[in-house]
Amino acid sequence: MTFKLASDAALLKPIQVGDTAAANRIFMAPLTRSRADADGTPSPLAAQYYAQRAGAGVIITEATAISQQANGAYLNTPGIYTDNHQLKWAEVAAAVHDAGGTIFVQLWHVGRMGHPEISGVESVAPSAIAADTTTHTHSGKQSLPAPRALEESEIRQIVDQFRAAARRAVDAGADGVEIHGANGYLLHQFLSDVVNQRTDTYGGSPENRARLTAEVVEAVSAEIGAGRVGLRISPGNTAGDIQENDKVSAYEALLNRIDSLGLAYLHFLINPADAAFGALRTLWSGPVVLNTGREVDTSFCQLEELADWGVISAAAVGRAFLANPDLIERLKEGAELNEPDVTTFYAPGPAGYTDYPTLAELSEASTSKSSPEALAR
Ligand SMILES: Cc1cc2nc3c(=O)[nH]c(=O)nc-3n(C[C@H](O)[C@H](O)[C@H](O)COP(=O)(O)O)c2cc1C
Repeated sequence: MTFKLASDAALLKPIQVGDTAAANRIFMAPLTRSRADADGTPSPLAAQYYAQRAGAGVIITEATAISQQANGAYLNTPGIYTDNHQLKWAEVAAAVHDAGGTIFVQLWHVGRMGHPEISGVESVAPSAIAADTTTHTHSGKQSLPAPRALEESEIRQIVDQFRAAARRAVDAGADGVEIHGANGYLLHQFLSDVVNQRTDTYGGSPENRARLTAEVVEAVSAEIGAGRVGLRISPGNTAGDIQENDKVSAYEALLNRIDSLGLAYLHFLINPADAAFGALRTLWSGPVVLNTGREVDTSFCQLEELADWGVISAAAVGRAFLANPDLIERLKEGAELNEPDVTTFYAPGPAGYTDYPTLAELSEASTSKSSPEALAR
């Protein structure tokens, strides 16, 4: 596939998102790569992987657990709740900055999507309703067990763990954090009117279902400054067997409550043709980042149009960045894009992680193949 962005394309213009100056409006979407150590320390290759992609306006990292209990959806995902995790994230942030990029760490609690064989602890959720799905554990593919419904005092601890993880991320040198409120994980579970069956102040009305996400956003903003905080939401997305009969009201309540904080950005994972996007977009006065999700093929033509019209401030792109470390250069030149190899999305090691070639590497390889010395061999 190829797509050429004109030199005056909206997506190539710089943008200020909160405290961060992004060189362009094509952000790298968060991508779990399952290469962290078993204790959640980011992979020794993570600094190289992210630095290779520093051409993104903002790199949003893979989902990163805020506690041991927050982990458990997949094997070898990173955390940011120990000194060791923080030290490794500091290496990653420094490598990205040295390469001229910016980086937000995505903060994650998986809730009922966790498996005790991965996290080592019981899974928790708004209500004791299991997700009808499976995950790969050390002993193979397993169904997810029913979680335990959280006590109110535990919910306050989780808010505090998000706050503490954000502090660690910024102390490690990250430009900011993205709170993961999407894709069927804990915050999305609370927002849902189906899997959240609570009867206390965290369930029932849209305001109550939005309460946990709002409290997390407020606590993290108070800790590191709202200008360093992004939030990702995916209204109506069915990832992780999440269901929502009403995919607007809780988000409306959420955005009405947090819009005035002045966050760096709101990140929608949604098909822009979805009426929920139209309804919710108008409630947000700050920067809007859009990722069109896995069901819709990323169309740079459509994203450029939306950016040009001012519907979105920036686009977040996942698989194209995974396979093209120099994606921005390729879009500027209209060069052929490398295809992502799904078999190495979550496999260990450098293959499919740090070895996707740049245009410069490809042309070097083809020059050396056709050099007189090579031809003589
Ligand atoms: C390998 C892989 C890992 C992903 N991991 C995350 C993640 O950690 N956090 C998240 O919010 N979304 C995650 N996603 C979703 C992506 O951010 C994005 O929404 C999706 O890939 C669709 O965008 P694309 O078509 O540009 O790839 C992941 C997607 C893929 C393919």
